[in-house]
Amino acid sequence: MNETYTDEELQKLPFRNKKLELEKRVEDLLSRLTLEEKFKLSAGRMMWHTKPIKRLGIKPFTMYDGPHGVRPGTTDEIKSTYFPSAICRASTWDSKLSYEFGKAVAEEVREVGAHMLLAPGINIQRTPMNGRTFEYQTEDPYLNKVLAVMTVKGIQNQKIAACVKHYICNNQETKRFTVSSEVSERALQEIYYPAFKATVQEADAWSFMTCYNKVNGIYGSENYTLLRETLMKNWGFRGFTVSDWNGTAYTSTEECVKAGLSLEMPMAKILTKRNMAKAFNEGKFTIDDINENIRRLLRVMFLVGLFDDEETLPNGSRNTPEHQKIARIIAEDGIVLLKNEGNLLPINIEKVKKIAVIGPNKNFRLGGGGILSGGGGSSVNYPPYEISPLEGLKEKCKNKIEIIETPSKADITIVFAGLNHNNGMDAEGQDKEVFGLPLEQVELIKETIRENPHTIVVLINGSPIDMDHWINQVPSVVEAWYGGMEAGTAIANVLFGDVNPSGKLTITFPRKLSDSPAHASKKTYPGNDKVFYDEGIFVGYRHFETKNIEPLFPFGYGLSYTTFSYDNLTIDNKKVRGDGVIKVSVNITNTGRLKGKEVVQLYIQDVESSIERPLKELKGFKKINLEPGEMKEVLFELNKDDLSFYNPVENSWVVEKGAFKISVGSSSKDIRLIGEVQYLG
Ligand code: BGC
Repeated sequence: MNETYTDEELQKLPFRNKKLELEKRVEDLLSRLTLEEKFKLSAGRMMWHTKPIKRLGIKPFTMYDGPHGVRPGTTDEIKSTYFPSAICRASTWDSKLSYEFGKAVAEEVREVGAHMLLAPGINIQRTPMNGRTFEYQTEDPYLNKVLAVMTVKGIQNQKIAACVKHYICNNQETKRFTVSSEVSERALQEIYYPAFKATVQEADAWSFMTCYNKVNGIYGSENYTLLRETLMKNWGFRGFTVSDWNGTAYTSTEECVKAGLSLEMPMAKILTKRNMAKAFNEGKFTIDDINENIRRLLRVMFLVGLFDDEETLPNGSRNTPEHQKIARIIAEDGIVLLKNEGNLLPINIEKVKKIAVIGPNKNFRLGGGGILSGGGGSSVNYPPYEISPLEGLKEKCKNKIEIIETPSKADITIVFAGLNHNNGMDAEGQDKEVFGLPLEQVELIKETIRENPHTIVVLINGSPIDMDHWINQVPSVVEAWYGGMEAGTAIANVLFGDVNPSGKLTITFPRKLSDSPAHASKKTYPGNDKVFYDEGIFVGYRHFETKNIEPLFPFGYGLSYTTFSYDNLTIDNKKVRGDGVIKVSVNITNTGRLKGKEVVQLYIQDVESSIERPLKELKGFKKINLEPGEMKEVLFELNKDDLSFYNPVENSWVVEKGAFKISVGSSSKDIRLIGEVQYLG
């Protein structure tokens, strides 16, 4: 202990031997650290790094935001690919794209010399008012899980750590530093945990970020049940936990250490060397507690190759045409066509002469937080370029269509409306102030429609909004989200039909906010010291379906320029026992004239259950590509786990005997085929 080594001696220490088993390397290094060095490693320095231990050649472990591209530090000095927001990526329902995104962003992390990306953010979208809805994927635990697993795999296959955040029930920004999310065990198990758990069990996530908020009265960073018991013991997590930035403010040193917090970021406040030494000497935590926390951090240092020669690690790359292409494809495939009366879209480039392009978001560029402010919080990116909607359209229309600003003189008008990353809109740190477009935009849409009935509204925003006051008057509405640096090109490609829209909503758009389950009362949102998740498992469409409330647009919804038919639902095993597999197949045909992609969705319902269950629960989806007239057979496999629910009385997952309804369709509301299986126990 505490020996000093020459460089040559260091190289020869067992932990530097790449041929040695990982755990042996970890134990060797751990055994060489002094207690004080362990304390030192427990907290960060200068925002994005751990402290080096020069004596042993431990370099700083570096981690950067964020969910839509790497942003080294907080400044714009280093540019990087700005990918579409997570809600847009999720709306593609294409898990391969999540993998490709993960891989590309990890290559950029490597290129800037870092080891971990502070992403993905996979909190459930409990309310459309959460300022960070755009940074998260969905309201549905199954979809959330599939996409999160693929993202983490994409990142970590490059030997870059993913940091899955924010664990857990950080579902609003209001009072995020102090509020306690009061949530039942069943809701945790069925809604909030599954994606986090799957990133551990199916993707071996190397890091978790704890939440700012309390969960059932205890802060995320010192929550023994959440960390040591659930994450580490029950799920088998081998990585390390890191606090959200300054998320330890109201916690205690020993409780954090005992709960399993390895790293306090961005600097020592609670896990200072002094606090740690005092608590340790007073017997408030043991050597085993601290060893276990540091062991986990060291393990990930080895996994990302912190001690390896750079040449032996996967190559990094940044701002490459390949990465930009992935950003564009995600933006295109994430766009959701919400309405298209009279097939105003796609625009025929050969026939249309003049297009009016108006609206506050036509010049939108969000890299750097946007044109209006530096908002967007930890999701801010600084891309080398960013194509605004207007630029995308100009490029597309070059020498073919004149772009003007007067709707009455145009064949077609496109209004770019929506929100931005200013505080009070889609931004970190504060929830949205209103559930709708700013009033002047509503007026603009109405006025434009009066001048030109051939009007398309393109929305650029990251969360559901109220459209009641204008949607009936507008023939075509497109949800384009925050589409990253290639947004303008992607939007133009979809509007002109070069790309057939195939995105589907991953969150229900309610008609009015009070229809939304979290908005039953002030107690359920935003709460005060506590916010009560009284809706339990009835989050999103589970609530709308069960309570029979008509949403504005349902979960899983999105139109195409072509049509698809669903036929021949076949269930191979209508009576299943034990761990038996149920195979479901369905034939999908492109019945229109354009090629297109369809997201085929499978929902189950437990017909007779001893406990209330949702009418629909997504348990499978496939995205397929079909030429006009082409038919493909889509296969799903279900097993006992897909039929089970969490029984709060027995504190375990159970599946009950009886009938289960299987619904296959194009959205949670547009069910085309129904079948049934019997589970025989
Ligand atoms: C956010 C995290 C982010 C961290 C570092 C926090 O405010 O909640 O998502 O990764 O800051 O920027």
